[in-house]
Amino acid sequence: MKMLVTGGAGFIGANFVRRTLATRTDYDITVLDKLTYAGNLNNLSGLNINFVHGDITDRVLVDSLLKEHEIVVHFAAESHNDNSLHDPSPFIHSNLVGTYTLLESVRAHGNRFHHISTDEVFGDLALDDPNRFTETTPYNPSSPYSATKAGSDHLVRAWIRSFNIAATISNCSNNYGPYQHIEKFIPRQITNILTHRPAKLYGTGEQVRDWIHVDDHNDAVLLILDKGTIGETYIIGADNDHINNKQVIEMICELMGEGHYEHVADRPGHDMRYAMDSTKIRRELGWTPQFTNTADRMREGLSATIDWYRSNVDWWKDAKADVEKHYEAQGQ
Ligand code: NAD
Ligand code: TYD
Repeated sequence: MKMLVTGGAGFIGANFVRRTLATRTDYDITVLDKLTYAGNLNNLSGLNINFVHGDITDRVLVDSLLKEHEIVVHFAAESHNDNSLHDPSPFIHSNLVGTYTLLESVRAHGNRFHHISTDEVFGDLALDDPNRFTETTPYNPSSPYSATKAGSDHLVRAWIRSFNIAATISNCSNNYGPYQHIEKFIPRQITNILTHRPAKLYGTGEQVRDWIHVDDHNDAVLLILDKGTIGETYIIGADNDHINNKQVIEMICELMGEGHYEHVADRPGHDMRYAMDSTKIRRELGWTPQFTNTADRMREGLSATIDWYRSNVDWWKDAKADVEKHYEAQGQ
């Protein structure tokens, strides 16, 4: 089976390629990645794959690749909320025009397409709202990042309905694990502590993210490729919606033997709470996350992630000063 993975040099995509090669023998994988600041070829080092350096908005390149591949798993995107607040234009380019370009090529070549999306398309929940997001929750995105992801989901749905393409969509909650860019919450705190900087919590830290280990997310995607129903959307979440940012930062500090962290300027329009109801994928496809439901399992996943950043300093150390300079300019 020939599979094209867009954005496979980024955090979740690279973990997906590794997970696929480790658990399946029947996939021949090509990664298409633009290698933006978030893409890193080292994330794929030592793997038996083909790599193509290019942009998903390049229709000629995309057509030449889709002709040769049966399956397309689409991870490529601009993915950081904070960046989208400063310059939304790359988000429009990659998330909207990029997805549109892939869909037009899928329409011409008849590939099986899986679109990777996020819980942020639904907006946020109040802290005291007992509800969770489901596959039928109305879209209500808050930031340029989540609005462009919402737009890309709508494009996929329209291409399914209007042109009958063989596509599925998954919306997952916040991921953590190895190879995550150090601009993101968890790796930023780990690498702050490793470089003797204080960990930095936005505002009061009451916000809740439904954290999921990246391997649990990717196992769900593989299951959708194997057994998912064409045209359907699947919510992916690991029932971690009871741990707020303050508790996560305190867990990281405790695991790393650090007693101190700082409160910094809050994110404008900061979403309060995300919570996922993943009943459908559990019932229909039999998916079960490994790192779930209790602070202890999250602690185990975080502990392994801390070990990875500690053992792979060369992977992140050159980017650290620049990332922090950028945050410092925003009072964060
Ligand atoms: P990332 O920023 O680490 O990686 C994105 C990758 O896409 C990079 O390798 C980058 O070079 C590539 N890319 C960007 N624009 C491109 C373009 N125009 N052409 C080709 N390649 C391009 O992102 P991530 O955290 O791995 O997220 C992957 C996907 O998962 C995204 O679609 C994101 O919306 C979604 N998602 C992320 C999370 C999360 O917690 N990180 C949660 C749910 C869903
Ligand atoms: P982030 O990893 O940027 O993911 P998202 O915006 O997709 O949820 O942030 C996760 C949460 O952590 C979010 O509520 C913002 C907060 N945060 C901090 O408190 N400190 C930080 O240094 C960063 C980067 C994020």
